[in-house]
Amino acid sequence: MLKSKKILVTAGPTYEYLDDIRFIGNKSSGKQGTEIAKCLHKLEADVTLIIGPVNLDLSGMSKVIRVETAIQMNDAVTAAGPFDIAICAAAVGDWRPKEKARTKIKKTSKGKPPLLELVENPDILKNICSGKNRPKLVIGFAAETDDLLANARSKLQSKGCDWIVANKVNAENRNMGGEENEVIIIKKNEEIKLERQCKERIAKFICKKIVEEISA
Ligand code: C5P
Repeated sequence: MLKSKKILVTAGPTYEYLDDIRFIGNKSSGKQGTEIAKCLHKLEADVTLIIGPVNLDLSGMSKVIRVETAIQMNDAVTAAGPFDIAICAAAVGDWRPKEKARTKIKKTSKGKPPLLELVENPDILKNICSGKNRPKLVIGFAAETDDLLANARSKLQSKGCDWIVANKVNAENRNMGGEENEVIIIKKNEEIKLERQCKERIAKFICKKIVEEISA
């Protein structure tokens, strides 16, 4: 079914460094993306998992590229492509500190905290969609605290991808960083809601839909 299909999965957070030991990050565990990658691997696809700093057992996967920053993830995606299918499940940091200090930033005697200037990171999903070797199917994720559907639908447009997997994230539901998820798969002409369940089952369903799409 997916034999010989070259598939990219991005997963996990990115760390955007202020100095050698401090960073701006997020709560992504990388679990949802990893479960998708494992499932696609079982379906005999040629999967490349490009993943930020996570604490997961990835021993079952043959092609794993570990990165830390959004720039490293973007470079790794470019170097490993082109792909037939891309699934961008990573929680990529939208911004990074403009400068990374060469040594540990120190407190000043005046007690004034440092001012952080941020710059925008490359948008990996957008780059994949607008690149010259665009995969046949590109799937993005949208983790939102408010206006889930409206934000996710508009992301489908602005990123230029084929599907968006939307999930509501907040401190209570622990969808980000936890074991379970609840998502809505948003396509141009269809929306499919998946009730709360473990990330492995969500991954299986998404992969089933990918197989259907590719075989259509
Ligand atoms: O814009 P936002 O971060 O909400 O978009 C989420 C989607 O875009 C996810 O699929 C994520 O992997 C991707 N993304 C990306 N590069 C970024 C920001 C987001 O690939 N710099």
